[in-house]
Amino acid sequence: MRYPIYRPRRLRTNENLRRLIREINISADDLIMPLFVRPGKGVRNKISSMPGNFQLSVDELVKEGQKAVDLGIPAVILFGIPERKDAVGSEGYKKGNIVAKAVSALKDKVEDLIVITDVCLCEYTDHGHCGVVKKKKGGKDFSIDNDATLELLARMALSHVEAGADMVAPSDMMDGRIGAVRSALDAGGFLDTPIMAYAAKYASAFYGPFREAAESPPKFGDRRSYQMDPPNTDEAIREVALDIEEGADIVMVKPALPYLDVIYRVKQEFGYPVAAYNVSGEFSLVKAAAERKWVDEQKLVIEILTSIKRAGADMILTYHAMEVASWLK
Ligand code: PBG
Repeated sequence: MRYPIYRPRRLRTNENLRRLIREINISADDLIMPLFVRPGKGVRNKISSMPGNFQLSVDELVKEGQKAVDLGIPAVILFGIPERKDAVGSEGYKKGNIVAKAVSALKDKVEDLIVITDVCLCEYTDHGHCGVVKKKKGGKDFSIDNDATLELLARMALSHVEAGADMVAPSDMMDGRIGAVRSALDAGGFLDTPIMAYAAKYASAFYGPFREAAESPPKFGDRRSYQMDPPNTDEAIREVALDIEEGADIVMVKPALPYLDVIYRVKQEFGYPVAAYNVSGEFSLVKAAAERKWVDEQKLVIEILTSIKRAGADMILTYHAMEVASWLK
């Protein structure tokens, strides 16, 4: 197609003109802040690979939640770090588990904040896998017991929602988990509680810093039997379709920046609300370069978030959320 002549330069020379033309704006409205909660009081453990992020006890978490609200951030997502880990991650779904406690405190003390909870076994299992492990005799060989895991995930999700969680986000990538969680919530009377599904989650090297933060690196093997292979996008479409069929209300692509094409396809194909997780490794790369003054952090972060939104994401989970919201104020 031949385009009629237009004079873009004129529209770029002036900031007010640029504002009028701009197709995408990043605002605090787009952001979800991930927070880590652990037992104790007055605890604020620095996460060394993720500057500015902490493992927080519930009392400290409440302060962060309030800060998020003050900055205009609509939602936080919680990750729990338990006192003890075991083979089946019992601390993740027992009565009064750490995330349930955190949720009640936030709902009780912070007004106007959506509390989402991550639902997965890996922070609670001693082997660090996202599901129950069936070890094959002798050797390192192992497999994940998908169906035994579903029941535990459903219990975990229900425990969070009973404590007041506004939404749950299963991140384990077991088959059938959205259906299992949906049925458990419905049976518990929580028919209106939405599910954000980590639908297309890749087996990524970008999760490294998170695993320090959540103390959850797998003790053997890796997560490639349940997380997706990075080269595949048709498979992402199938994963998203399944999750939607099982009852997902929001679908997530994770990581974000290396998978913009996936975000784009998912948005085009389904027209569902799409979340993108700008994961720990993406965050830490930027921080490390910024500390060396190799990049302009603010410009870089806004450009990254803009690219994610331009690809089709409606919301972005990012460890930069609080900083970005304060820059935009
Ligand atoms: C748990 C989970 C992970 C992340 C979110 N939920 C880790 C993993 O799958 O290894 C990663 C988030 C990040 O890197 O920021 N299953």
